[in-house]
Amino acid sequence: MRNPFPFSLRVITDPIGFCNRTPEIQKLISYAKSNTNAVIYSQRRFGKTSLVKQVQQRLEKADFVTIYIDLFGLSSADTIASRITRGVYKALYEQKALWQKALATIKSHRPVVRPDETGFSITAEAAGSKVFGADLLDQTLHELGEFLAQEKRKTNIVLDEFQEITEIKDPDVEGIMRSHIQQHQASYFFVGSRRRVLLEMFSQKRRPFFQSAVNFELNPLPHDEFVTFIAKRFEDAKKRCPPEAADAIAATVGDHPYYGQKLAFFCYERADKKVTQTDVQQAYADLLQAERPVFEAIVLGLAPRQIALLKAIAREPTKSILSMDYIRKHALKSIGGIQAATKRLNQLDLIEKEKDVWIVVDRVFARWLTQ
Ligand SMILES: Nc1ncnc2c1ncn2[C@@H]1O[C@H](COP(=O)(O)OP(=O)(O)OP(=O)(O)O)[C@@H](O)[C@H]1O
Ligand SMILES: [Mg+2]
Repeated sequence: MRNPFPFSLRVITDPIGFCNRTPEIQKLISYAKSNTNAVIYSQRRFGKTSLVKQVQQRLEKADFVTIYIDLFGLSSADTIASRITRGVYKALYEQKALWQKALATIKSHRPVVRPDETGFSITAEAAGSKVFGADLLDQTLHELGEFLAQEKRKTNIVLDEFQEITEIKDPDVEGIMRSHIQQHQASYFFVGSRRRVLLEMFSQKRRPFFQSAVNFELNPLPHDEFVTFIAKRFEDAKKRCPPEAADAIAATVGDHPYYGQKLAFFCYERADKKVTQTDVQQAYADLLQAERPVFEAIVLGLAPRQIALLKAIAREPTKSILSMDYIRKHALKSIGGIQAATKRLNQLDLIEKEKDVWIVVDRVFARWLTQ
């Protein structure tokens, strides 16, 4: 029997491996139907991408055109333009009439189709050599607008990792995107995991996207549903996970979808026929071990002062980072340094204030930091 839980971080596209999120799916479908734009945010790996894919699958069944655009790791305005076009190509390649229409309206790029292990891959190449950067982005979005205006069906467009556009130093990018998007006949979902950076784009008065979308926060999975889901997946794969053990799995990771699945994966590996509390405890050690490369990479990207503060907060969440006691106890040095580190860690979404207390956002990471 195969382990029913995904080990690697992949977006869930099949409904069987996907737990609940029914109210969220319904809400987002209703936004799409009313052409409402939404900002979908949560901490890392809460299932935003999986959720919007589920929503788009259902929208397609309701005769929507759906386009998914991934903006992770951008380097320039040109790459935004080509990512957008690639998303359009991917969505339409297998729908003949639409594909022709897209080719006819989007003249700034042309598709490059290559065979690969999944069948084929499509990328977009800029077609001319005269237009670059922000101008190319402007033209591409204009063409997309024309395409949308001609299309009678409703369209939903996901811009995943949307906050990444702020990494591009061109000051015009946000304004250009906003000016086109507000005229496009489509609903947009702006998705991201760097919550502060993303939300500031929509909540600061002087920013182009100010108040242009409703906020939609994705929470952990509902505990009882997650417990039932875990137990059922075990049962389907011929091992038993009693309610107390399934409860322990979900509770240990605070109903975090990704960590929950991964902890369940290790429990399945360890358990003989039936999962015990000892299996859950040992599987948690396996999980920490498995996540080590990810955590180490995060720490490597930080300055020594930031690491010191992060570890202090992981060990002892606090209301008063700047109190003399706290500084002394955790050997934190200067107040100015602590303030700068707090700001940066908060911006990176590694720490946050919960009911006035500073905590490390990711609780598994926090546990690892204290080892
Ligand atoms: N509803 C769900 N049911 C079961 N597992 C889920 C669910 N949502 C997410 N997961 C698990 O979490 C993992 C991460 O999901 P996904 O990539 O969609 O999250 P994300 O929020 O987009 O992450 P990131 O912040 O890295 O972009 C999935 O591979 C899956 O294992
Ligand atoms: Mg994602």
